[in-house]
Amino acid sequence: MPTNPQQETPSDQTSSSASAQRRAERSQSPDLPGAGAPSQADHAPPYFEREHRRLDREFHEHLLAIAGGSFILARQHVQRWRLALARHTAIEDTRLLPHVPDGARWNARLYRLEHARITALADAHAARVEAVSENPPRDDRSTRETILSLLDAAQALRHMLEHHHQREEVALAFELPPALQAAAWGHGPGTQPHDQAS
Ligand SMILES: [Fe+2]
Ligand SMILES: [Fe+2]
Repeated sequence: MPTNPQQETPSDQTSSSASAQRRAERSQSPDLPGAGAPSQADHAPPYFEREHRRLDREFHEHLLAIAGGSFILARQHVQRWRLALARHTAIEDTRLLPHVPDGARWNARLYRLEHARITALADAHAARVEAVSENPPRDDRSTRETILSLLDAAQALRHMLEHHHQREEVALAFELPPALQAAAWGHGPGTQPHDQAS
């Protein structure tokens, strides 16, 4: 179902909070580009942050479904999120990472390694959710135990995603030409936003 970017939902607010937290961490961490220079950070092209917020929203809906014990719905959300994540990663791998300039904060190989780790974690998590949805717990206590187990298991993936998104938003967003980013994410002249094209 298409989403209206003008409409703020509770999960939008959650992902907005995640983005705000990333900006705050960026301004406080001496290890990250943009540290101590929030005005520069505020002028980064918005594409990475916007795309990451879309992914965050879908994953948040998935976690809410788990928390409510709706494992079929959780599987549907995780499948949609996996497709969106795969498309997102493919765009970065094929259209953006080949253009990481010499002297970039982190090289393309690091991003690709993280993509591989995220993909493996995401596949493992999706398989876990699918197994539960096909063989759901039969009583209240087992349901609560399953919810706790799935949410615990998702933590490593969430942390990896958060850290990876932060790298891209504080480094790649500044290092790659804005026109290249716009074209890659479907916002360039003569292109259609990729999330509406499918
Ligand atoms: Fe990435
Ligand atoms: Fe990304």
